[in-house]
Amino acid sequence: MAEDIVLDNTLTREQQYQQLIPQIEGLLSGETNLIANLGNIAAALKSGFGFLWVGFYLVDGDELVLGPFQGPPACTRIRKGKGVCGTSWDKAETLVVNDVDAFPGHIACSSLSRSEIVVPIVRNDKVAMVLDVDSEHLNNFNATDKIYLEKICSLIQI
Ligand code: SME
Repeated sequence: MAEDIVLDNTLTREQQYQQLIPQIEGLLSGETNLIANLGNIAAALKSGFGFLWVGFYLVDGDELVLGPFQGPPACTRIRKGKGVCGTSWDKAETLVVNDVDAFPGHIACSSLSRSEIVVPIVRNDKVAMVLDVDSEHLNNFNATDKIYLEKICSLIQI
C-alpha cells in the first residue's frame, strides 16, 4: 500500500521538499511505468503542498499533450512556444512566473491561477515533457522550488 504524504507545516518549504523527496523516491522505487510514476509525483506534490494544479505535459510532435495531473480539468494541447509551458519547452529552461497576468501569452486553464513554475524534463538532449505547477497565490514560487522540483524531475526514469 502507498503511504500518505506527510509534511510538517511548521517547516520551511525547503525543509518540506527535503521531507518530500524520500517519500517520492519510495513511491517510485520498484516501478518503471512512466504514467504510474508521473501520477504519483503529481499526487505527492498536490497533497503535500496543496498547490492549485500539478501535472505533466508530454511532448507529442510539435505540441504538448496533457499527461497525469492533479487539480481542475486543464487544456489538453499546447503548441511549442505558446504559454508558459510551451515557452519552457522551447527554451529548455525552468520558468518561474510570479504573476501569470504579466506573462505575455499565458494560457489560463484556471481563472484561479496567479503564479506558476514550469520545469522541462530533458532526456537525450531533447525536452520530453514538462512539469507544471500552478498556485492561486501571487509569487508562490522561487529559486528553492526551482532547485527541488528539478531534483524531483531528475528522479523520473523515461
Ligand atoms: N498556464 C499554462 C497552461 C497549463 S495550465 O496552467 C494547467 C501555460 O501558460 O502554459
